Amino acid sequence: MSENIYIPTNASREEIYAAIIPQIQSLVNSESDRTANLANVAAVLREAFGFFWVGFYVVNGDDLVLAPFQGPLACTRIKHGRGVCGTAWATSSVQLVEDVEVFPGHIACSSASRSEVVVPIVKNGSVVAVLDIDSDKLGDFTRSDVKYLEQIVKILENEVF
Ligand code: SME
Repeated sequence: MSENIYIPTNASREEIYAAIIPQIQSLVNSESDRTANLANVAAVLREAFGFFWVGFYVVNGDDLVLAPFQGPLACTRIKHGRGVCGTAWATSSVQLVEDVEVFPGHIACSSASRSEVVVPIVKNGSVVAVLDIDSDKLGDFTRSDVKYLEQIVKILENEVF
């Protein structure tokens, strides 16, 4: 089956989120495989916004393990509490990092990454994965991004995990 997604051009970030969120909902409703769904959500976010790196890490034992992503080669395992992703896991809270160089223990998978947002994916009260987005621009993410990314994560919590 061929999948098409409509991404508005010359639109604000908010308008783009508003356009893609219902399409992400239908994408994941029409497929039951978790890997396929995470792969397409990463692809849609990368295509819509051109972020440097978009992807998922899934909890496996004591580690977050690299899962579907779009962008350059990444670290494969992150320990609980380590770096931005491991902190989102340990605290079960969104990490909005304007400058990764001042985040204690930031894991530099790529020196081009300057700012980052990580949203935990929670099932039955426990973090099961994280959505990680990295930008090569300083301060690229705001509370507005967090608001929309939380809506996308909510869809994943309900339909994918
Ligand atoms: N910077 C992240 C590591 C993951 S990647 O950059 C893809 C962190 O500190 O958690």
